Order: sequence, then C-alpha cells, then structure tokens
Amino acid sequence: MESNDPRLTKAKPWLAPDAAAGSYALGLLGLEERKLLYHLARDIYSGAGAILDLGAFCGASTCCLAAGLRDNPRAPERRVHSFDSFIASEPYLVDFIRDQFGEQLALGQSFEAIFRRTVADYVDRIEVHAGDLLAQTWPISEPIELLFVDIAKTLALSGKVLTEFFPRLIPGKSLVVHQDFYHPTAFYLPVVMDSLAEHFTIIETGRDSSVVFKFESPIPQAELERASGYDFSFIQQKAALRRMMHRVGMPGGDYLRLGECAAIGTAFGERQFRAALVSATRQSTIAPCQVWSDGLKWCGAFNAVHIRNRLWGSASKMPPPSATDRAYMIGSSVWSAIASRFKPAR
Ligand SMILES: C[S@@+](CC[C@H](N)C(=O)[O-])C[C@H]1O[C@@H](n2cnc3c(N)ncnc32)[C@H](O)[C@@H]1O
Repeated sequence: MESNDPRLTKAKPWLAPDAAAGSYALGLLGLEERKLLYHLARDIYSGAGAILDLGAFCGASTCCLAAGLRDNPRAPERRVHSFDSFIASEPYLVDFIRDQFGEQLALGQSFEAIFRRTVADYVDRIEVHAGDLLAQTWPISEPIELLFVDIAKTLALSGKVLTEFFPRLIPGKSLVVHQDFYHPTAFYLPVVMDSLAEHFTIIETGRDSSVVFKFESPIPQAELERASGYDFSFIQQKAALRRMMHRVGMPGGDYLRLGECAAIGTAFGERQFRAALVSATRQSTIAPCQVWSDGLKWCGAFNAVHIRNRLWGSASKMPPPSATDRAYMIGSSVWSAIASRFKPAR
C-alpha cells in the first residue's frame, strides 16, 4: 500500500531544485538525507506531536531538523528531542570524531561536548535526552509526529524503538524515517517494516539510505511484540525482504539484495554469504552509487560471528535456522547455481 496523501505524494519539497539541507554540520548523513530532514520539519510537520531524533551523534541530524523547525511558522513552541548515549561505543564513531573533528577519544569516552557545540545555534529548539536508549522512556500521553531513527543498530534497540515510540505515533499523520534502511547490516529493518506493512505507507523510497513511512493505522499489540522480538524464521525474513524489494522498486530493491546476503550469512555463515553475494551482484542492474558501494564495502568485511554478536548481543543467542530453513537454503543454492550458468556476470 503506497501513500495517497496528496501533501506527500504530489509535493516532495526535499526533491525541489531549490531544496535546502538546513545544516552541513559534520555527521553521518548524506546530502539528500539532510534535505529530507530539513523539509520534513519545515514543510510537512504540523506540530500535532513531537519531533524525535533517535541517534543524534555529533548533532548533524538534530541541526537539520531544528533548522526546519525554526523555518516552520506552524510550530513556534516545538523542539527536537535528541536522544543519544553520547558515548563513543564503537570504533567507527571514534574514527569519525578523530578524522572530522581532530579529537582523539578512547572507546567509551563521551562526545557530548562536541554535540553541544554543534547544536549551539539551536539550543532553544532542542531538548537533549542523554543516556542508553534501552533505559529511556517517552511519556505515553505525548504523541510523536516525526520519528527519525538512526539508532536501531541492534535487535534490542530496534525492539525498543518499536515498543517505546511506535505506540505514540499518530494514525494518518506521523512519519517514521529509517536512516539505516538500505544498509545491509540492518537487514532486519525491512523485515520488521514488512511485517507492519498494513499499518504504514511508503512516502519516500530512498534518499541516500533513508526511507520514509507514513503511519496509517494502530498496530495490534501482538504484531508489535512479534516485530520487537524479531520472531521471524529465515524463510519469513527472506520472503519479507523480497516483498520489500518489490515495494521500494529501484534502486532500493537492489540495495536490499545486499541485505538479503547479510540475512543469509547471519543464518548460515560466510560460505553461503559469499555465494549469495556473487548472485546478488550478478543480478543487480543499478548504476554504481554511494549507497551501493558502501554496502559492497561492508560486505567485503562480512563476518558472521561478528554480526550475530552485534545483533543478538552474543552469537549463541541467535536462534539457529530450523530444519525447514536449512532445506530451503540448500534448494535455493542449487537453483541459483543452475541459474548462474545462464546469466553472465556483470
Ligand atoms: C550513526 S550514529 C547517528 C548519526 C547521526 N544521526 C548524524 O546525524 O550524524 C548512531 C548513534 O547512535 C548512538 N547509539 C548507539 N547505541 C545507543 C544506545 N544504546 N543508546 C543511545 N545511543 C546509542 C551512538 O552513540 C551514535 O551517536
């Protein structure tokens, strides 16, 4: 189901020739994502609920949203709620801060001072929620209109976003932006959003790695629990990814091929991952671009144990594939080996 809201389908202000980024503050966002955030906050946001930036890092996403809010006359009293631990908990965050800000942090050190400096111009437009998201709560009485998600890096965090924030979305109005949607490491996001497809339309199929969903109808508790517990067999995940590829069209469909490889590798290991990757690159038809090359780079360093640890907290906590999943995988490997004989490599 795609959105038929004329405000969103006819006019996508982030695509206009004069679309603005709002802010070029250093961060892990592409230019198209900056324009998207700025124009969502300026032109689409009505003030009916809060704006949340989940995963603010050094402030780029917060600044783009706050700049849009500043330029939006319909919501003069509103603020951007910026959530982050502000702790350099992973090497890529340490590396980014060193390379872009020239500050050498150790793993586990705080970068909140950098965030505060970056957002200084918008201080009256921001409310900061510092700390582990897994321990944060959002008042049940406070609806959320614009939810930017750049924090769902593990299944626990994805589950927390679903249980804590999705129930506060406003039917027929709220928007959810999933920043990691096309990153292969986050293959579970398209799976989860497919499981909730009845409740969301897609209003933007791709600005850099981000996809925008419009919340249409309340989600029954059982569906939310299944999605937040990531209770999907391998076969169900694969079918969900295929449906999502179809829904988003191109080039998103090809980006999700790499996510499918990651799902295969996570369940069955590196040998199956590499076979799937050969087939995915063979089948892809998109012109090379940043999202695709970032995805391929990540695939080049794929490590099944590492990703299981990252997603489940420990490799041994990942439910092993069932006998049906294994039989399915053997069948599809044989089929793709046969198919590859008839299709030349790119
Ligand atoms: C990719 S960065 C976000 C990039 C940012 N949106 C920007 O504009 O540059 C992901 C952020 O999630 C935060 N994060 C990861 N796990 C977290 C957790 N459990 N609680 C709070 N923040 C977390 C990290 O500290 C990091 O700043």
